[in-house]
Amino acid sequence: MNIKHKRDVIIACDFPDGEKTLDFLALFGSERPFVKIGMELFYAEGPDIVKKIKSRGHKVFLDLKLHDIPNTVFSAMRSLRTLDIDMCNVHAAGGQAMMKAAIEGLTRPDGSRPLLIAVTQLTSTSPEMLRHELLISHPIEEVVMSYAQNARAAGLDGVVCSPLEAERVHAVCGDDFITVTPGIRFSGGDMSDQVRVTTPAIARELGSDYIVVGRPITSSPDPIGAYRRCLADFIG
Ligand code: C5P
Repeated sequence: MNIKHKRDVIIACDFPDGEKTLDFLALFGSERPFVKIGMELFYAEGPDIVKKIKSRGHKVFLDLKLHDIPNTVFSAMRSLRTLDIDMCNVHAAGGQAMMKAAIEGLTRPDGSRPLLIAVTQLTSTSPEMLRHELLISHPIEEVVMSYAQNARAAGLDGVVCSPLEAERVHAVCGDDFITVTPGIRFSGGDMSDQVRVTTPAIARELGSDYIVVGRPITSSPDPIGAYRRCLADFIG
């Protein structure tokens, strides 16, 4: 499936409820940023919040990171395919059979479907954690590249990875394979719980297709200014 995409900034709307989210999005006036809805908001509000945000004209990345047996992921995606979302995801750690089942479940009767990407390693995972907690002895970069290749082989459109890995993912999986990169911070900003991070400008240099930015925008005293700064630094 050949889906065209362009570089964009996706705002991670990690708010506890729909009211706070819609109030936040109203700050943007007629601008309609690409929005990421994650577990916190989806579990609080259900599919209704997706419909409300879509009806206001935003693109939506539904970030539920599915990871289960192939049959369950297939059925979950069957439910999600009725929502008019633009992007959603699974964990590549679920394996190729699970990722293929996800595509099958997500594909609508007319053959269309949202972009489907796979989480490689969370950007909060450090090399030490990978080795000592998860008992994965390969270097993190190798693990990410191998997971990305699995996702590509299963027919997915791209991966969620650190911006620091975007260049290599493109080298290994091709330029048309999308890299969606959280772990974005302004220089000198608070790292919070993210480990493998970089700035919007460096993410652009490294070839990220989409940056996902949460707290640097949502917790900013000037969210519009922070969003515009991301757009200017990432897209130009
Ligand atoms: O606030 P911050 O900019 O750290 O938000 C990053 C967002 O990206 C969060 O919603 C987080 O769940 C998500 N994410 C991530 N790392 C991944 C996948 C998703 O940080 N590998």
